[in-house]
Amino acid sequence: MAETIRVLGVAGSLRAGSFNRSLLRAAVDLVPAGMEIATFEGLREIPPYDADVESQGDPPPVAAWKRAISEADAVLFVTPEYNYAVPGVLKNAFDWASRPAGKSPLNRKPAGIMGVSGGNSGTARAQLALRQSCVFTETYAMLRPEVLVPRGAEKFDAEGRLTDERTREAVRKFLGVFASWIERFRGKPAS
Ligand SMILES: Cc1cc2nc3c(=O)[nH]c(=O)nc-3n(C[C@H](O)[C@H](O)[C@H](O)COP(=O)(O)O)c2cc1C
Repeated sequence: MAETIRVLGVAGSLRAGSFNRSLLRAAVDLVPAGMEIATFEGLREIPPYDADVESQGDPPPVAAWKRAISEADAVLFVTPEYNYAVPGVLKNAFDWASRPAGKSPLNRKPAGIMGVSGGNSGTARAQLALRQSCVFTETYAMLRPEVLVPRGAEKFDAEGRLTDERTREAVRKFLGVFASWIERFRGKPAS
């Protein structure tokens, strides 16, 4: 039997009622057989990137983040959109993980990207911005299907459960294709 695919999910928002964290939770619930999604909850503890700090060794929260990426078969980024881009907390975590260049845990790691916005964009621009960062790290971000969720307030109930059936179906489909995407790279040497 094939080994379980281990995905590390991270939501790029710190707020308690984050739609993006709720979408990540929905993905955890809708996961297909043969895949597990563990969520990374340490984003708040990751300090601002500073090369001088890095040169003394990764601070423990950064080391934990990088280790979690290394140990996973893939990363699922669930990103809000801030000013047409990736929120600073997620970009900052990405930047730490991108180091050292060429030996980063993101190098040749399969990834998926989804996101929820408050308005109509569904995070289209943030997702493209994150894809752009994935070029330098050679992070294999799945191209399609996309999960772009607009008007978050209409899609989740007061407890943060994803109640919109079309979005649930889109997440299910995304995860099914994501499993095949990750399988393409499993067992391949990292360089
Ligand atoms: C600083 C800031 C910038 C934002 N910029 C955008 C934006 O460019 N596009 C957009 O669709 N929504 C934007 N929003 C609204 C977010 O989509 C909305 O707050 C969303 O719920 C954030 O994700 P979260 O619920 O996971 O925290 C912005 C919100 C903040 C706080």
